[in-house]
Amino acid sequence: ATKIILDTDPGIDDVMAILFAEAHAEIDLMAITTVYGNVAIDRATRNALYLKQKYQFSADIAQGAVGPLIKDPVGPTVAVHGESGFGDVAVPEVDGEIDTRPAYQYIIDAVTAQPNEITLVAVGPLTNLALALQAEPNIVNLVKEVVIMGGAFGVNDHRGNVTPYAEANVHDDPHAADLVFSAAWPVVIIGLDVTEQSFFSGEYLDQLRDDAAEVGQFIWDVSRFYLKFYKEKVGLDACHVHDPSAIAYVIKPELFTLSEGPVRVVTQGPAEGMTIQKFDGRQYFHDEWQMHTPQRVGVAVNDVELLEIYRQTI
Ligand code: BDR
Ligand code: CA
Repeated sequence: ATKIILDTDPGIDDVMAILFAEAHAEIDLMAITTVYGNVAIDRATRNALYLKQKYQFSADIAQGAVGPLIKDPVGPTVAVHGESGFGDVAVPEVDGEIDTRPAYQYIIDAVTAQPNEITLVAVGPLTNLALALQAEPNIVNLVKEVVIMGGAFGVNDHRGNVTPYAEANVHDDPHAADLVFSAAWPVVIIGLDVTEQSFFSGEYLDQLRDDAAEVGQFIWDVSRFYLKFYKEKVGLDACHVHDPSAIAYVIKPELFTLSEGPVRVVTQGPAEGMTIQKFDGRQYFHDEWQMHTPQRVGVAVNDVELLEIYRQTI
């Protein structure tokens, strides 16, 4: 099984991803590290602890960043994920144990103790990963792979969901994302180009509820609010499969077609949070792109098989 640390801001689709990772035999969910994003950091941690207790996860939980590296915080997305982060499902206070270290330190210690064994999967703003890189740059040589849900590369002429040119996780902390994408470690980016190619329809979720016992019911419950948002604001009778797609990549990379080349993030101005990849081999006159590691970006997905794997796992 692949050992993963899942960095997340739970979040409705984050829950869908966490439960997927926990349930799949080929994934060993070693830790959940939390980050602000869909909800404030204290709620993110509470939500992770709640899931740990409810489903008896063995994963450690470490709390991460309260806000972005440099820019002013954007704030929680209550309209998408609800007050609690789990739509209209209330989350009680839980008194479980969290690790005493901040998330970035947990990540550094874990990959140092088990070099080249751990995959970092990040499905929220990339602040914790950037802080880890800043505090211990050598982790680029210790991490097996970094899999990220974030960004949008214009594959289907589509570049954003929170602005016309930015995806939420990258837009929350563009400086962190730029550090993470341009570091010399192997990154795979599962962005809107692919996550918006897979849909959890109302029918699909009903079937999950009927087939997957309590977990299916819980996913159905948290998804009510999300579906309402999609219906009213996006005009869809379904929701996109964002965060679970990153987990699907870890389980079965062949589901995705990838494009290779260095990736950067626009950190200010009207296209703040825009992600761009250089995919030609040409050398330009002013070419600082040459200095950056080629990374892989998802450009197509086998959505039918992805949905089938999710259904069978839950
Ligand atoms: C991403 O933003 C958050 O709202 C979701 O949890 C997902 O990680 C999609 O843009
Ligand atoms: Ca998320």
